[in-house]
Amino acid sequence: MTKHIGILTAGGDSPGLNAAIRGVGKAAQGYYGMQMIGFRDGFRGLVENRTARMDGDVLSGILTRGGTILGTGRDKPHRMTFGGKKQDMTDTIVENYRANHLDALICLGGGGTQKNALQLMQKGLNIITLPKTIDNDVAMTDSTFGFDTALGIATDAIDRLHSTAHSHHRIIVVEIMGHRAGWLALGSGIAGGADVILLPEIPYDLETVAKAIRKRLRSGKNFSIVAVAEGALPKEQALLTRAAEERKLKAEDKKARKQAKQELAILGAANANHTVWLSQRLEELTGLESRVTILGHLQRGGTPSAADRLLATRLGTACADLVAEGHYGVMVAARGEEAVPVPLEEVAGRKKLVPPDHPWVESAKRVGTSFGD
Ligand code: F6P
Repeated sequence: MTKHIGILTAGGDSPGLNAAIRGVGKAAQGYYGMQMIGFRDGFRGLVENRTARMDGDVLSGILTRGGTILGTGRDKPHRMTFGGKKQDMTDTIVENYRANHLDALICLGGGGTQKNALQLMQKGLNIITLPKTIDNDVAMTDSTFGFDTALGIATDAIDRLHSTAHSHHRIIVVEIMGHRAGWLALGSGIAGGADVILLPEIPYDLETVAKAIRKRLRSGKNFSIVAVAEGALPKEQALLTRAAEERKLKAEDKKARKQAKQELAILGAANANHTVWLSQRLEELTGLESRVTILGHLQRGGTPSAADRLLATRLGTACADLVAEGHYGVMVAARGEEAVPVPLEEVAGRKKLVPPDHPWVESAKRVGTSFGD
């Protein structure tokens, strides 16, 4: 019997998604003789049964394209907004899965998608996920597609910032994406030779950062590049945020939970302009002029790197192999040269953060990079 599979992309887009769609689709349809349809705009398209043809001609020529031909969205199946109200749409998803006679649903996404996929698996659907995100923070996989491309873009930006910072004898504080993980700032900071790298996983002391810049000044280097991850915070703010998060986790009733959530929202708003605040404070503490560059969504745009095309193709084709074997309820993880299935329960709800003693951090410290710790 011909197997029918559905595929969707969810969460923030990332380079390599189309390469992965192509990998799954060509292997599933061309190699195994299955049939595949797409759902548009993440889980919302599945709820609304907005399907897309995924025949060979649709899959041709997309390997090098950025973004996702299917569209994406950050909707959660169990809390989807319709007419301003949040509704649990998982039953509708199950109905549409059955109506389309699917044998499996392939979900391409980051941490949030792994959680959503697990919930659908618990509703009885055959699910396989692939790990994508520029943040590289999905648990149980060596890497995620999208990361390598974003790493290249952020590194190129730091290279370019060097010459202007050097010419004007300035500090340039460059904010790099990564959500609450520092992989992208760390990797591009090292590759681009940033003088200071600030990560969410290593809360920093402002005076220590200023000291590192003043030390460079004394040795005749009158410019500095500070690569700051979007989630990085000074020690005091990090402590306050962690305490509020713990209160939210331990909250015994609705009221306590609401209060902790409000505290977190207030802290979040106060930290929203962290990069600008950091730049101003460094100006005051070092006497050097400082400028801010926020790389933002540039880091997610454009054609995927060769490494991401390769990773996405490897994981995508391995996904088709798993469908052929009837092996479901897993994420296809990258482990060295292998693509291995990992139970969704072991992935969902976990984040791969930078260990403060990670070899990349140690190497950066050996070449004199300050982490402000
Ligand atoms: O998860 C990828 C990511 O780019 C994060 O680095 C960033 O925090 C977030 O998405 C931005 O989300 P949005 O595109 O919804 O603004």
